Amino acid sequence: MCGIVGYIGKKKAYPILIKGLHRLEYRGYDSAGVALINEQGQLNVYKAKGKVSELEAFCAEKDTCGNIGIAHTRWATHGEPNTVNAHPHYSESERLAIIHNGIIENYAVLKAGLMEQGYSFKSDTDTEVLVQLVEYTQVNRHVDLKTAVQLALQQVIGAYAIAILDKEHPDTLIAARKGSPLVVGIGEDEYFLASDATPIVEYTDKVIYIEDEEVVALKLKVESLKLKEVGEVKVESNIDITTINNVTKTPEIKRLELSLSQLEKGGYPHFMIKEIFEQPRTLTDSMRGRVNVRQDNIALSGFIDNKERFLNAKRIIITACGTSWHAGLIAMYAIEEFAQIPVEVEYSSEFRYRKPVINKDDVVIAISQSGETADTLAAIQLAKSKGAFIFSICNVVGASIPRISDSGCYTHVGPEIGVASTKAFTAQVVALTMLALCIGKEKGTMTEEQYLSIVRELGQIPDKIERVLGQNKRIADFAKTFTYAQNFIYLGRGYNFPVAMEGALKLKEISYIHAEGYPAAEMKHGPIALISQEMPVVVVAPHCGTYEKVVSNIQEIKARKGRVIAVVTEGDELVSKIADYIIEVPQTEECLTPLLTVIPLQLLAYHIAVVKGCDVDQPRNLAKSVTVE
Ligand code: AGP
Repeated sequence: MCGIVGYIGKKKAYPILIKGLHRLEYRGYDSAGVALINEQGQLNVYKAKGKVSELEAFCAEKDTCGNIGIAHTRWATHGEPNTVNAHPHYSESERLAIIHNGIIENYAVLKAGLMEQGYSFKSDTDTEVLVQLVEYTQVNRHVDLKTAVQLALQQVIGAYAIAILDKEHPDTLIAARKGSPLVVGIGEDEYFLASDATPIVEYTDKVIYIEDEEVVALKLKVESLKLKEVGEVKVESNIDITTINNVTKTPEIKRLELSLSQLEKGGYPHFMIKEIFEQPRTLTDSMRGRVNVRQDNIALSGFIDNKERFLNAKRIIITACGTSWHAGLIAMYAIEEFAQIPVEVEYSSEFRYRKPVINKDDVVIAISQSGETADTLAAIQLAKSKGAFIFSICNVVGASIPRISDSGCYTHVGPEIGVASTKAFTAQVVALTMLALCIGKEKGTMTEEQYLSIVRELGQIPDKIERVLGQNKRIADFAKTFTYAQNFIYLGRGYNFPVAMEGALKLKEISYIHAEGYPAAEMKHGPIALISQEMPVVVVAPHCGTYEKVVSNIQEIKARKGRVIAVVTEGDELVSKIADYIIEVPQTEECLTPLLTVIPLQLLAYHIAVVKGCDVDQPRNLAKSVTVE
């Protein structure tokens, strides 16, 4: 949830850390802080409530010198978002400073023990307990910082990615992880540290992904830190990775496939709208090398290499959260229709705690944009321990979920920075549809004609999305008339029922308007009581199997004076006559309609939020990557 960044090298650390925090701000933005050791050996900690820009303003008049530092952008778990609870946290003697992403579950027990030893606490955070524990261990066991960190972490239950500075050792930066991501970037006589590679990419493409329960010590010779902040100074450096039980590990250096331009807004006012407009290209990227329209074939290596597991599966369990869970629901329709395998779609947070029955011949599909969602990670760890085959659909290459999966498929849409997921969703649906088609074809549970028709149509989807995006201006215009609304209902059926839920989620997370997605036919079992002329109802009604039934639902809404915004297939005549606003999408295969119908809903939520003056890319209380339970 939080973002952490660190630097040690011959450059001035502060600008690198601040830039890194801006890149990581999507992970949390209720407070931020930085710690630096200056050339006089002072350990300065600066913190501010609010976004990183508040921290920058606060630091403008401060001493921000130093070639070693750590910084943090927070999404509060323990303790309200304020300056005291912001990271970094000092230890008792103010010799150490720590930043942390995760949750120390047994912090109360550890805190009580430290208080008995005379330690006092300034914040309400679990993180302060950890830094005090490290200092207590360092002092009482007479060990160096790395050993103190190892010993302290042996007592910790929970998740962490941490980085610690010790002003007595200004040549060393110590970090560790368990359950929360941590990447080390290797530059020329300098090291970078971050929750993901985005703060690192402009300095180096060489990275090491730190594994669970590993402790990394990044060192420079002390002389380098006494030299000027910039200049051609040769410094010796080294990196040492051990486990928390002091077993030496050999780091594997990987090359980053990420470009700086992918992290910029490219002329758009927000990342969200940029990412919505990127979808024709991102879906082309997702399908590249996989969907071969000329040969009428789909080649998905994660499936080809593990064909038997899918063909022998008695059941497929899909586990995910939020938008990714909605993509999973769409996959349930596709897999059951084409591959005839029963599918269960589980919220990861429920699945992991409800003692589910998991068999060795089950296939568990985890869906996660970030690949770091704590609940989804825990769900697949559970499934793996029961012998199920784990297949993951993720976007962030090298993240924890794909790393522990048996196989999978990356969506390859590039970094998604807007907190509201858009391009990741459509790519997840494409990946899952490709998988459903591969299984169906191989099992012989779908006709050749059906298979070919969908494969060909997949190739047309990017162009068809482009056509839907052409209505952006009109959607922006009528979005203005809905900013008064306190509530919205979204309705859809079949493949478009999850789209209704996704549309509602988009609206509530970025515009703070309450919205619910329902299967259209369920409306009469309760939600119809809410319909009045104040209630906008978005109905997803493309020409599919249940079209006529949905038209009847629209009649029912209109009879009660509800205002209907309908997403229909081009040329629709029935709904056009009764709905208040119409958005047309091109005709396509029923299983692919979500890829088109979701686009107007993304745009509608975006424009309503913009008109309301909401912070679209960083909505309140949210974070992009949910690495806590
Ligand atoms: C989507 O708009 C949300 N911000 C959120 O629901 C998200 O989809 C969810 O947290 C899951 O994230 P993941 O795909 O990275 O696992």
